[in-house]
Amino acid sequence: MSYPYQIRSLEEYQQAWRESVTDPEGFWANVADHFYWRKKWDKVLEWNFREPDVKWFQGAKLNITENCLDRHLGTLGNQPAIIWEPNDPEEHHRVITYRDLYNKVCQFANVLKNNGVKKGDRVCIYMGMIPELAIAVLACARIGAIHSVVFGGFSAQSIADRILDAQCNVVITCDGAFRGAKDIPLKAVIDDALMACPSVKRVIVCTRTRTPVSMLKGRDVWWEDEIKKVETMGNPACPAEEMDAEDMLFILYTSGSTGKPKGVVHTCGGYMVYANYTFVNTFQYQPREVYFCTADIGWITGHSYIVYGPLSAGATTLMFEGVPTYPDAGRFWDIVDKYRVNILYTAPTAIRSLMSFGLGPVNHKSLTSITKLGSVGEPINEEAWHWFKDHIGKGKAPIVDTWWQTETGGIMITPIAGVTPEKPGYATLPLPGIQPILVDENGKEIEGNGVSGNLCIKFPWPGMLRTTYGDHERCRKTYFSTYDNLYFTGDGCLRDEDGMYRITGRVDDVLNVSGHRIGTAEVENAINMHHGVVESAVVGYPHDIKGQGIYAFVISEKMVHDPELTRKDILQTVSRIIGPIAKPDKIQFVSGLPKTRSGKIMRRILRKIAEGEADKLGDTSTLLDPGVVDEIKEGRL
Ligand code: PRX
Repeated sequence: MSYPYQIRSLEEYQQAWRESVTDPEGFWANVADHFYWRKKWDKVLEWNFREPDVKWFQGAKLNITENCLDRHLGTLGNQPAIIWEPNDPEEHHRVITYRDLYNKVCQFANVLKNNGVKKGDRVCIYMGMIPELAIAVLACARIGAIHSVVFGGFSAQSIADRILDAQCNVVITCDGAFRGAKDIPLKAVIDDALMACPSVKRVIVCTRTRTPVSMLKGRDVWWEDEIKKVETMGNPACPAEEMDAEDMLFILYTSGSTGKPKGVVHTCGGYMVYANYTFVNTFQYQPREVYFCTADIGWITGHSYIVYGPLSAGATTLMFEGVPTYPDAGRFWDIVDKYRVNILYTAPTAIRSLMSFGLGPVNHKSLTSITKLGSVGEPINEEAWHWFKDHIGKGKAPIVDTWWQTETGGIMITPIAGVTPEKPGYATLPLPGIQPILVDENGKEIEGNGVSGNLCIKFPWPGMLRTTYGDHERCRKTYFSTYDNLYFTGDGCLRDEDGMYRITGRVDDVLNVSGHRIGTAEVENAINMHHGVVESAVVGYPHDIKGQGIYAFVISEKMVHDPELTRKDILQTVSRIIGPIAKPDKIQFVSGLPKTRSGKIMRRILRKIAEGEADKLGDTSTLLDPGVVDEIKEGRL
């Protein structure tokens, strides 16, 4: 496959970016021309950020899986689409060619149809990182069902919330998942979740761990049995459903500053073009290269850069079931050598965690196949950047520090590997089509270089979210009302003297813990569910490995008897309500919280204390009870 829209020099980048700003419609139409559409668009773009109402490629008809599968069969049928590396390195890996993947997706799409799934239905997918997860995602897209993938680390309660919000009627899961030394009982978690979800009429269970599971009569069926049924029915093909460019492709839940996660909605046409364009350009993908993204498909990175971006580009995408430290901290490097990986895309938290093991696990690895490296999910500190560059990239491979969000659908600000300049700690320059601007609190544009402010985007791009599921007003309020006529990212940002962008972190109450996005309000709600808790306040603090840790200040009546037990109980509660990823790293019991006279918790003060900067508290005179601050300072963990 060739990519005529791949930028190959700095001059080409500058020209493409200029074109994308002066004639966005012409620019994106030229890119979109290289995809397979059943019918081309009548209009490239219609937009209004105030509603918001954004439509790309209106009137066009397509199916994203025809672009990810069918169109490659002639030329790439025998090429590996997915290479799968199991959790246990002793177990056999799997190589799935484009033809195999096409067949498997069609087969499972027929299973879905047999089980009553129709275009527009919402399907919840809760699986480990096995090829069947990618197959399930693509099979939904094949028949026009809207997938809502929930990361395997979320609790039953979180799954139930997501199923209810999207009114899913089908769930696809596994008996269990292997992650490092652990087996995670996925089906048992789903059983708990479904007690609250009577709308779910069918659960399809794929075998992985052979953990004993309960299969409810009339509701639960085995993936393998259902495949056998469709095999005996003859015709294995499954025609792709014709979708409008603006039909929903998927929902993916993410945290915001309020307690309830929101379902970010992406649509078929624009998302496809954007995921592909950003994949091909950022990583400078060349045919036959082996590309390894270490994310989980439960997050947007996995959607865009394990599944849709690479497969729509006919790339070979490596899927890894396990964790970076199992069976030892050399696992990523073993995988790189085993498959001669060319492009490695991972997260700063993984790099920092592997750095902490020293160079032992890296020293005897070859790593010579690596030509490009990528980072995503959180700011990468310079130390980690250099370690990655020197020890993994052997000083030669460019690093792309890619800034983007669940809502943006794809990479927004990043170096283009080996083409545009890189700078440690900087996401550097916007991709073509992206118009970032920095604004002050009043929404006034901060012009020039050597400045910082809140990062907004002033023009639509094809991969942007269209709404939040079931609540368009929430989408408007969250992203389009803070500043008039701008998309607000929630991130703070600095633009240096050379016009390069450095993301400085969230400016709202959203934490980024090991690259996972968690709302402080969500964690507080969970802590407050514990019967001994009166009130709590959660803030982030710098954490060596996780980037940010979770610090909870808790007023509890019960802890006087046994603080340690209460602490453990609270952790258990948070695990139950949200999932283990949201467990606070520190819980400090306090007798009160710093509040304004109107009763608002002053998080700014708590944040400073948690960050160890209690001497920089600023003005505390407006507090209802300034004395409480001294107590909290003294008790800091
Ligand atoms: O704060 C930014 C941070 O992660 C947030 C988006 O999180 P999520 O929607 O979960 O998507 C993560 C994967 C795309 C952003 O608002 N973030 C993401 N990438 C970077 C980053 N912060 C700094 N540098 C990055 N490269």
